[in-house]
Amino acid sequence: MSKILLIGTGRVAFHLGHALKRPGHEIVGIAGRTVDHVRDLANKLGAPGLSRNDTLPQADIILIAVSDDAIADVSMNIPISDAVVIHTSGASDLDRLLPHPDRAVLWPVMSLSPGEPMDFERVPLVIDANTERAHQVVKDLADSLSGHVLQLDHAQRELVHAAAAISLNFPMHLLARAQELLGNHGIDPSVLAPSFVAMAQKASAIGASEALTGPARRGDIGTIHHHLDRLTEDAELRAAYARLSSMILRAYGHPDHGYTDV
Ligand SMILES: NC(=O)c1ccc[n+]([C@@H]2O[C@H](COP(=O)([O-])OP(=O)(O)OC[C@H]3O[C@@H](n4cnc5c(N)ncnc54)[C@H](OP(=O)(O)O)[C@@H]3O)[C@@H](O)[C@H]2O)c1
Repeated sequence: MSKILLIGTGRVAFHLGHALKRPGHEIVGIAGRTVDHVRDLANKLGAPGLSRNDTLPQADIILIAVSDDAIADVSMNIPISDAVVIHTSGASDLDRLLPHPDRAVLWPVMSLSPGEPMDFERVPLVIDANTERAHQVVKDLADSLSGHVLQLDHAQRELVHAAAAISLNFPMHLLARAQELLGNHGIDPSVLAPSFVAMAQKASAIGASEALTGPARRGDIGTIHHHLDRLTEDAELRAAYARLSSMILRAYGHPDHGYTDV
């Protein structure tokens, strides 16, 4: 098991920090820019919180879990050592970890929000590295956390990142907007929640194209017209409805009636 220095105190540091402890890795220190956040995470993980003037402890792995834009600055300020330096960003290349000689990525493909520590055994972990040694270290680390580890280069990671934004962020935003619409009309927004959960389970069980239901899939043009008539108070949502209906109509072999122009 490895000695790990954790840099960052946000969502990933919280979830990954808990996950690292399960197989027995030792978190030798937690560093971050906000004293209270370091203290809070150190308490939660039962690991030493470091202050700005502390010398960084010796570690096999330095895990940088900070915002994408801060990775390069944070990396530059870490003294070079034998440690393999790893970031957790799906959108960032390995060069952000310069000047460290052994660099790697450990990207959890999971939306990590505040809450109970995530069970990493079912979290896909994407890895990459610039040297054989870094690759072996990050692979061993990933294998100790999850049963689903895959190696992808930067271009492939960018594609997965874009696909994740499309498939996870957009439906979540559309749910929020749809619930807001119901709330504005005095209708309990939680009426949508059970079917949202059920659809996600269905998509995972039988595949998204099989799981999809609704007027556009069926080609029910009359219903689509009625919906568009109801959505006049939110032009943006109406345009999204029209564009997505058009995509679905075409994907399932129906004429799209030019809804993309609405
Ligand atoms: N959350 C996810 O779902 C998820 C999933 C996979 C990968 N990731 C990746 O994991 C990394 C961390 O994401 P996160 O969700 O944990 O972010 P987060 O919860 O917003 O936490 C960001 C952390 O970065 C620190 N930070 C921000 N700017 C900094 C700077 N200029 N210098 C030093 N520290 C700075 C913050 O410090 P303060 O506490 O002082 O603000 C905080 O500790 C990102 O690369 C992200 O792409 C996130």
